[in-house]
Amino acid sequence: MRAQNADQFLILATAGVKGRIKQLKQDGDPLAENYDSAYENDEALFGSNESHLLQKYADFLPDDASVLDLGVGQGRNVLSLARRGCQVTGIDTSQVAVDTVNRLASEENLPLEAHLQDFRDYEPDRAYDVALCFGLMQMLDLQGCASLVDRLHHWIRPGGALFLTAWHLEDPSFDTLCGQWERRSGRSFRSPDGKMNRLFLEKGEILKLFFRWEVVHHWEGQGKPHKHGTGKLESHGEVEAVLIRPKK
Ligand SMILES: C[S@@+](CC[C@H](N)C(=O)[O-])C[C@H]1O[C@@H](n2cnc3c(N)ncnc32)[C@H](O)[C@@H]1O
Repeated sequence: MRAQNADQFLILATAGVKGRIKQLKQDGDPLAENYDSAYENDEALFGSNESHLLQKYADFLPDDASVLDLGVGQGRNVLSLARRGCQVTGIDTSQVAVDTVNRLASEENLPLEAHLQDFRDYEPDRAYDVALCFGLMQMLDLQGCASLVDRLHHWIRPGGALFLTAWHLEDPSFDTLCGQWERRSGRSFRSPDGKMNRLFLEKGEILKLFFRWEVVHHWEGQGKPHKHGTGKLESHGEVEAVLIRPKK
């Protein structure tokens, strides 16, 4: 069906995104890992504090920056940026996440919009000053990771900043997954029900993926113990990076 006018186009486009996400869930795509019920049951599943990286490297986030948050979740990393005046776009495959972020933004009239959007289908009409990618990379397979890296190279303007976290091979869950999940390559796994992926980066791999970028911050180690909702205490082999896209 072709759109006859702009309103109809918007309706068809929205239906298309929802259809794709529904299809991904049925196909057992990793992107379907369903955060909706987890977010419904806990209004701060990943805590309510923003990442310490955003505070430590605030100089790379001027008050008027345009910011893209990939996998915005419940908005913990972007609400304070929007309060400072940053123009924020968040995308996420969870409808609950998107609704929550949009509700919180409209309560305070913040320049923050969240969209129900799989990053692989996202087609921004500009390059952003800053992109945030907290906690998304470990949920992808190798192909998804390559696709994410490729997109980040285009979605951030030359001289703009990327804040990213991922998991590395010394994550405690690696050994557990070796016995229980399908190993798809040395460091990529798919859950038995086919609904989730886990990807563990090799030591220093993140710098190879962004090899021409200026490294402002790079840390790999064991993260602090924490809980998500009523879940058990966990800690991850974490990769942190703050990188600047080369100007040329
Ligand atoms: C681990 S959570 C992190 C949420 C948030 N960045 C934070 O740090 O609190 C990962 C988020 O990525 C979203 N997500 C997963 N696959 C995605 C995809 N393909 N495109 C966009 N968002 C995705 C999930 O719905 C979830 O909200």
